[in-house]
Amino acid sequence: MMTDEIRSLTEQLDPGRLPAHVAIIMDGNGRWARQRHRPRLYGHRAGAKAVRQVVEIAGELHLPHLTLYAFSTENWSRPRDEISGLFSLLIEYLKKETDELNRKNVVLRLIGSPAQLKPEFLKRIHDLTRKTWNNTGLHLNVLFNYGGRQEITDAVRQIAEEIKSGALAPDEINSGIISQRLYTKDMPDPDLVIRTSGELRLSNFLVWQAAYAEIHVTPVLWPDFGKAEFVKALLDYQGRQRRFGGTGE
Ligand code: FPP
Repeated sequence: MMTDEIRSLTEQLDPGRLPAHVAIIMDGNGRWARQRHRPRLYGHRAGAKAVRQVVEIAGELHLPHLTLYAFSTENWSRPRDEISGLFSLLIEYLKKETDELNRKNVVLRLIGSPAQLKPEFLKRIHDLTRKTWNNTGLHLNVLFNYGGRQEITDAVRQIAEEIKSGALAPDEINSGIISQRLYTKDMPDPDLVIRTSGELRLSNFLVWQAAYAEIHVTPVLWPDFGKAEFVKALLDYQGRQRRFGGTGE
């Protein structure tokens, strides 16, 4: 559903120059909860509602790829109850939303390192998401137990194995070979990275893939980020001149 504000923002978009891939660092759930004197998990729950809004608008605008950073390899240093709360929230979201995502023709994938994750958890996620894999609309990628350096390390290990077995020669290594060994191998690189809550950091997020991404930082905390903020980020993106290291002339 679009309100008048969102419709009038959307009308300002150039439909021919929408990004193929938007990736979001959803930050500020903790601060949002603190402002309300509530536990951090209350903020993450509100964050899951914002996820719903953003997935909806991405679908309405027919964007091909949306990636959300839900749990990083560094998040293991958080308090145990927050970690287990985030795990439960993810499962709850998948249980509640996959039928709806299916109806909306969304392909849902969880991307990250399987290391440290229990086989039962991995199986659960696999079973909950697989029914969306034959869909053809928005590709929604949720990064869970994801870290950019970990991903590159895994790719380097795989390349080393391939060289050892003779399947690959060292002089065949190029950026395409590396991209194809990342967790994101079948996706275009993000054109636009959004970070909420005002932090000016990449925080180990898609460090290889975001090499040429435009970055939009908003002070809005993630639970307050909705459709209007998403369209504003797209408008900011469309105002940029992308040069990819050239002069743009
Ligand atoms: C960062 O805020 C947010 C996270 C580490 C978790 C993101 C998770 C969700 C939005 C909910 C579940 C996701 C899905 C896909 C259903 P923070 O806690 O670092 O905030 P702070 O910097 O204000 O403390």
